[in-house]
Amino acid sequence: MHLLCPSHHLPEAQSRGFEVNGVALLAARRDGQVYTYRNQCPHRGIRLEWQADQFLDSSASLIQCARHGALFLIESGECVAGPCAGESLQALPCREDAQGIWLLNLPQPPSSTGRRRSM
Ligand code: FES
Repeated sequence: MHLLCPSHHLPEAQSRGFEVNGVALLAARRDGQVYTYRNQCPHRGIRLEWQADQFLDSSASLIQCARHGALFLIESGECVAGPCAGESLQALPCREDAQGIWLLNLPQPPSSTGRRRSM
């Protein structure tokens, strides 16, 4: 397991970016639960945030890709609007305990055959 951060570093309705094993990740908290995903839009394979640690839309209820506006459910990573509707962010299992938020497995570094799509 890999400790991402203490719990108080990720308050309710907030998001945070991390880099673990050379892989960009994001974590978001909704209704007390933490969700972690690879920070990679399934549309173009690029990072999602519009500035550091800012991954959520203005309602703080969806993850938003800053480039073309795709919206993803925080709970499942499923894209519900935008160019990659129906696709999903890659979920990374995590857990939270008294020490903080843990990633259960180290993510594998990105391969050179990452999926890319044209606009
Ligand atoms: S790159 Fe994310 S919606 Fe296009």
